[in-house]
Amino acid sequence: MPALVLLGAQWGDEGKGKATDLLGGSVDYVVRYQGGNNAGHTVVVGDQKYALHLLPSGILSPGCTPVIGNGVVVDPAVLLSELSGLAERGVDTSKLLISGNAHLITPYHTTLDKVSERFLGKRKIGTTGRGIGPAYADKINRVGIRVQDLFDESILRQKAEAALDFKNQVLAKLYNRRAIAVDQVVEELLGYADQLSGYVADTTLVLNNAIDQGQVVLFEGGQGTLLDVDHGTYPFVTSSNPTAGGACTGTGVGPTKISRVIGILKAYTTRVGAGPFPTELLDEDGEKLRTIGGERGVTTGRDRRCGWFDAVIARYATRVNGLTDFFLTKLDVLTGWERIPVCVAYEIDGKRVEELPYSQTDFHHATPIYETLPGWSEDITQAKTFDDLPKNAQKYVQALEEMSGAPISAIGVGPGRDETIQINSFL
Ligand code: GDP
Ligand code: IMO
Ligand code: MG
Repeated sequence: MPALVLLGAQWGDEGKGKATDLLGGSVDYVVRYQGGNNAGHTVVVGDQKYALHLLPSGILSPGCTPVIGNGVVVDPAVLLSELSGLAERGVDTSKLLISGNAHLITPYHTTLDKVSERFLGKRKIGTTGRGIGPAYADKINRVGIRVQDLFDESILRQKAEAALDFKNQVLAKLYNRRAIAVDQVVEELLGYADQLSGYVADTTLVLNNAIDQGQVVLFEGGQGTLLDVDHGTYPFVTSSNPTAGGACTGTGVGPTKISRVIGILKAYTTRVGAGPFPTELLDEDGEKLRTIGGERGVTTGRDRRCGWFDAVIARYATRVNGLTDFFLTKLDVLTGWERIPVCVAYEIDGKRVEELPYSQTDFHHATPIYETLPGWSEDITQAKTFDDLPKNAQKYVQALEEMSGAPISAIGVGPGRDETIQINSFL
């Protein structure tokens, strides 16, 4: 079992942090492969709650080496403050490795993210405002600044000049903002160099060597399948590839090394930010899911939009990620509903559609076709085995499994590490 990927099967916030932490004690490396501090991964260990944004959730497992891969965009100020926040709480952060090829998020990316959203007005994406899109745009445009550039002042200056040349025109002429001085950017970035240098490594080499030696590497996705820039609900997506292929490009580990791809799947659906959401509930049920599920963003504090489980999306996640397993989370949140609707297909222009439509217009017009399953009222948070669940909760899980196209190998019944029913081992 050399390498496994753990990723979001919906629109993010499925419980990836908890699932990663659960595996953290049994793996040697936990690697973030895309995204940045737009992520908010919650880990609950005993009575301690951690909100991780940029650091891999494996940082909380003492035996595990956390790695930030080349596909991640790194805001150095956020990284250092996250590291010192954890150190203050007694977490050992010394093992962290950061790819020298990861791109940096600088203050001008954050500024551009916010002003461009304002400029889009009604058409805005509802980004987290963390500079993610502009940093990836620079990477693709070949005017990005990488972690390794922090250690060569003359290259850093040349790259900052190249990046700001155009951006300052845009900021001043289009957005009516003050231009950003190259000196200021260079000085700020150089200020991080000494603090970061000890963490920087050839992570591709480290990870491939580890796999060759039989060590176990876990890739931890940020965001989710439907936020993927290629496979998600474009343009209402993030600017990276949370889907399984992203784990390869974002770390330099080839697909032949990956033996398991685990989709984290919430027992209902949530989304933050703008964009289509067929099973969204704008009624009391939606409010109830939000309240009981604590559906408020870890990064921006925004209320999450809530809706019923959507099996069309789960099937799509199985397909585009090649999922081998699901980890179903937050089943406990559904306790107390007499009947629980599940979306089994869509109706689009009078026709029944079983697969996620590739056309955005069709997806915007999709209305859910529901099957309603009987609910349960017993508290399930203490359940340790599948048999401990009430019959109707078992049937709900079995129905989801049949519709979703991969086995449900674990079930979350609460936020804590122990509040998990393990059906098949992931390792
Ligand atoms: P991530 O971004 O995928 O890591 O998910 P978030 O941390 O943003 O949101 C998931 C929330 O659900 C967090 O508050 C978790 O502590 C919580 N959570 C995870 N699994 C479960 C579960 O099985 N039951 C309950 N009640 N909460 C869970
Ligand atoms: P985790 O890892 C949920 C959403 C934003 C917005 C869109 C683009 O905690 O699951 P961006 O700032 O990335 O350019 O915003 O993506 N988004 C998330 N939604 N969970 C996340 O991360 C998200 N990261 C970004 O709300 O709609
Ligand atoms: Mg989150």
